[in-house]
Amino acid sequence: MENSISRKIGQFMEAGSWIRRMFEQGAELKARYGAENVFDFSIGNPMGEPPDNFINALKTAVSDPTPGLHGYMPNAGYPHVRKILAEHLSGDHGVSLTADHLIMTVGAAGALNVALKALVNAGESVLIFAPYFVEYRFYADNVNANAIIVETDQTFNLDIDAIENVLEPGVKALIINTPNNPTGRVYSESTLTRLAELLDAKSEAFGHPIYLLSDEPYKRIVYDGIHVPSLLQIYKRALICTSYSKELSIPGERLGYIAVNPDCPGAKTMINALTFCNRILGFVNAPALMQRALGLAIDAHVDIAQYQNNRDIFLKHLRRMGYEVSTPEGAFYLFVRSPIEDDVAFVAHLAKEKILAVPGQGFGRSGFFRLSYCVTSETIENAMPGFERVIRSILS
Ligand SMILES: Cc1ncc(COP(=O)(O)O)c(C=O)c1O
Repeated sequence: MENSISRKIGQFMEAGSWIRRMFEQGAELKARYGAENVFDFSIGNPMGEPPDNFINALKTAVSDPTPGLHGYMPNAGYPHVRKILAEHLSGDHGVSLTADHLIMTVGAAGALNVALKALVNAGESVLIFAPYFVEYRFYADNVNANAIIVETDQTFNLDIDAIENVLEPGVKALIINTPNNPTGRVYSESTLTRLAELLDAKSEAFGHPIYLLSDEPYKRIVYDGIHVPSLLQIYKRALICTSYSKELSIPGERLGYIAVNPDCPGAKTMINALTFCNRILGFVNAPALMQRALGLAIDAHVDIAQYQNNRDIFLKHLRRMGYEVSTPEGAFYLFVRSPIEDDVAFVAHLAKEKILAVPGQGFGRSGFFRLSYCVTSETIENAMPGFERVIRSILS
């Protein structure tokens, strides 16, 4: 008898398959025309190698002959690494964190799943903001929560009135992502302060806390001197759920953390719950070697000059051709308005020019498409004639 997968997972695989479909289409085009002739802007794999000081730290960590370094550890992660990280983050966030406010996780994805598992009861709701990182919907489902999708405004900013309209007693948590994938938007301090005031008022009115999970893996990838405000200074029930995937160019190594606001009521119990969930979700602990390397190179981060250069080249050319796109303040994506309403059809036009993009539909916002600029600047330059032919053929 044939094996049978769960009906729900079958449906989810279909719904969440845009990036995979683009990946498959890309592989097919590359096999047919050669990889150098395909312009793949579909994947958000960070460009470049990890910084030298992190690689050196890894070499030191792996060469350490101390016995027991490859064994189990506390589920929250190495105490000495959490202490180093706590000191570093205290400076960054301007709050006093200790090792006891942190747990090391398997990437930002692990962090979000652990936080939802620890905080959200089955049947409660989680607010997600469109356009969104598609996995959030599945993460909410992992804890049998309802995902409530809230549209951001025309500039992809949080729409506080829209949030107020959907906040009801069943809402337990919100997931925000700043700098944002796919839009590049960084939420301002005043927007976040308004959100915090609203959540404080609603927590009070509903008689239960509403938690804010801030997904921030792109925090170090920001442009033009933009500052990403610290949620830990703004909202006491904030948890930073993030990773080193992008800022150290190590997404395959799976290292992240959760930082709980020291002022969060019940922080100690929460940390215990997060640690327990890290264990029972099967992560057990974040990768040992990566934690030890991080402890040796806490200041390491990638150089963002190439991302900034790519962003600027892309923006200049696309705007000259008549594409409508707002300037991303961070991350490494452009979210471009589709010149025709049907973003899926438009992306198919681009594919005929061997240009791969992801339709906005894949992020819950039709009428746009996403371009990742984790590529060489030559790839961007070489793709421009194709972008131009497509828009000309549509506008003419
Ligand atoms: C917005 C956002 N959140 C979370 C993740 C997952 O990060 P990680 O690989 O650290 O689990 C990604 C990865 O692309 C992302 O773009």
